[in-house]
Amino acid sequence: MGCGESKQKINSLPKLKVKPDIPKKLDNKEIEIKVCLLGDVSVGKTSIASRYCKNTFSDLYINTIGGAYQQQSVTLNNGTKIRLHIWDTSGQDRFRSMTNLYYQDAQVAILTYDVTNEESLESLNYWLEQLNNKVEVDNMILCLAGNKIDVEASKKVISTSKGKAFAEENNMIFFETSAKTGAGIKELFQAIAVKAYELMKNK
Ligand code: GTP
Repeated sequence: MGCGESKQKINSLPKLKVKPDIPKKLDNKEIEIKVCLLGDVSVGKTSIASRYCKNTFSDLYINTIGGAYQQQSVTLNNGTKIRLHIWDTSGQDRFRSMTNLYYQDAQVAILTYDVTNEESLESLNYWLEQLNNKVEVDNMILCLAGNKIDVEASKKVISTSKGKAFAEENNMIFFETSAKTGAGIKELFQAIAVKAYELMKNK
């Protein structure tokens, strides 16, 4: 199959709104959820996933091609095990037409911005619009991560209150994070796991 052919196929995907499944319960003690990280180039999506799944961080920037997968499990206080399947997507424009393939059956979307880059928060309106067009977001757990809070205070151009306000406006779980130091990362995924469990329990 030539490149042109596959591009045409992606562009002609039907614009159906997908209803993400409530997290699946595998047995008495295990739930699986799919999480997708979205946001501009270089905001730290891969780094957040790597910090959480492998407890590693690199200063090197290697751009994501399409999407990348990692997984991690978390056990809640009541013993329930949640397996998080984490897809981080490329922020590059040239991959945008395929990003919906990653998020359309995800139960969770983490919209990520870089606290040193004003535009990266504004761009999230684009991702919210994309999600709203393709997915029934009311069935989704939406999160907002303001990443790179380890930077020196003068470089932080997006205040915590601005991030918080964006999250409240869009009904999102909000955390400021640093993939570099690990600040807020476990807490973010823990909050996601708890919310997923509550949704499943109330189904
Ligand atoms: P794309 O794949 O291009 O969409 O980028 P991405 O959003 O996955 O960003 P990535 O995780 O590759 O990080 C981009 C750059 O930011 C790298 O040089 C990382 O080392 C750096 N970076 C990521 N997270 C942090 C952080 O919390 N603090 C600091 N200081 N740098 C970070």
